[in-house]
Amino acid sequence: MESLKEKILQLKKEKNAVILAHYYQQPEIQEIADYVGDSLGLSQEAKKVNADIIVFAGVHFMAETAKLLNPKKKVLLPDLEAGCSLAESCPPDIFKKFIDAHPHHIVITYVNCSAEIKALSHIVCTSSNAEKIVNSVPENIPIIFAPDKNLGNYINQKTGRKMLLWDGSCVVHEAFSLEKLIALYKEHPDAGIIAHPESENRILETASYIGSTSGMIDFVKRSPKTKFIVATEAGILYKMQEAVPDKILIPAPALEDNTCACSECAYMKLNTLRKVYDCLLHESPEIKVPKKIADKAIIPIQRMLELSK
Ligand code: 13P
Ligand code: SF4
Repeated sequence: MESLKEKILQLKKEKNAVILAHYYQQPEIQEIADYVGDSLGLSQEAKKVNADIIVFAGVHFMAETAKLLNPKKKVLLPDLEAGCSLAESCPPDIFKKFIDAHPHHIVITYVNCSAEIKALSHIVCTSSNAEKIVNSVPENIPIIFAPDKNLGNYINQKTGRKMLLWDGSCVVHEAFSLEKLIALYKEHPDAGIIAHPESENRILETASYIGSTSGMIDFVKRSPKTKFIVATEAGILYKMQEAVPDKILIPAPALEDNTCACSECAYMKLNTLRKVYDCLLHESPEIKVPKKIADKAIIPIQRMLELSK
């Protein structure tokens, strides 16, 4: 009998579809994806797509970004409930009032936000290009940075800017326990701690490398160290371990004890192989963005892609 994976690959061929997946997806989804990457890589890849259908194995804002870059293609998200705490922390009507109260500020938004928020922004950024994007704005121009206060605070420290920060955060990266991390490090003093900049400052202060998911994978590859404590969503361990099969990777511990003794994104994990198959079969759920919003939201994304070349 044909396995679900074989059926997906067959259907993908028949329908001229591609599967783009984020590193936080379940390993079996990453295995059948045409491309696995971080948010910037996924946007760059979405821009190049030749297929008729994009199955986006990630969360809603990622699929929406792919749709904005491919308005004529069908973009499918296996589970429409796959949201993001950062995107939810920034309601467009309240954000609009905030911007209106600071009319001289440039608005830089982290890609983890809705198309409505992107439509209100000057430039979008991801965790791998945030510093470069912020530095592209002349120093005398004040900046609003939204929605991630942790990434914003980290970039403020790196650049010496005093960006006005929106009070949003990622529940997955705020779940790490500093006390447990220190205890773990005491057990493994030879390990390097690496962290995603969505983590809180007290976690970032312990890290010898801070970067996006792709940045973290590149770092463990080139570092002479052979053991790492990894402070980001645990899904990254699949590709990271593939990249460094002989190194030891330990997920950073979360505050609450849970089954994986790590931090997992419940939104990312809503996608399953079965849902990937069903969405491709029925070509639903489909991501649609109203033209009025899409026409504005694409501009700051294009600016980011230009600045990231
Ligand atoms: P990157 O993969 O761009 O580092 O983003 C991490 C993340 O939280 C995506 O939701
Ligand atoms: Fe959003 Fe955090 Fe999940 Fe990424 S890991 S999708 S930022 S909630």
